[in-house]
Amino acid sequence: MLKIAPSILSADFAFLLQDVQRMEAAGADWLHIDVMDGHFVPNITMGPLVVEALSGRTGLFLDVHLMIERPQDFLTDFFHAGAGMITVHAEACPHLHKVVYSIKEMGCKAGVALNPATPLNTLDYILEDVDLVLIMSVNPGFAGQEFIPAVLPKIEGLAQKAARKKLAVDIQVDGGINVRTAARAAGAGASVLVAGSALFRSEDPAAVIKAIKMLPGGGGVIA
Ligand code: DX5
Ligand code: ZN
Repeated sequence: MLKIAPSILSADFAFLLQDVQRMEAAGADWLHIDVMDGHFVPNITMGPLVVEALSGRTGLFLDVHLMIERPQDFLTDFFHAGAGMITVHAEACPHLHKVVYSIKEMGCKAGVALNPATPLNTLDYILEDVDLVLIMSVNPGFAGQEFIPAVLPKIEGLAQKAARKKLAVDIQVDGGINVRTAARAAGAGASVLVAGSALFRSEDPAAVIKAIKMLPGGGGVIA
């Protein structure tokens, strides 16, 4: 079943909780929280305080995407704030194995993100240990960018590798997702789709989520 993770980067921060509740009522599965530090990416967004403020106020699983340098310094802060999944960028982690194990040892789910030009074989000795791989379908930093179709073979390659090794790893695709690009990402093997602008800027996010879940491989109509 395809899971939908609205990215609060496109929410109205003056009405953040209401916007999150709107996504929950619309049928979202996870809540995607984009953390940026102005170093790893050219933008600054939010930190553990925002995760903590939302934790316990929404039933959505809190999926934290760290686009920061030295993510190892902030793992416990995000976990104690309520993160259910912490995803770090492979490009920001020279000691990726250690970082993944630090996340898991806290009792948190661990994800690894790959930028559009980062090859899949970066995960060669860690894939078996992660709960999720995030394939970036835009260059990280901003909402509202165009989906990069060149990442589709990477999604396919990962799905094939996971199937071959019988891994239960989630394949998350993030950036430029709308109903049209969701079809391509889901067709390539994605299991979790992040969407910012397509959901928060929509008058009817429930219809968008329903349309995505009705795609082949999407899992059918939502309750
Ligand atoms: C980009 C972020 C994405 C982004 C998605 O750096 O990781 O999660 O907010 O926004 P859209 O769906 O508008 O591309
Ligand atoms: Zn993200």
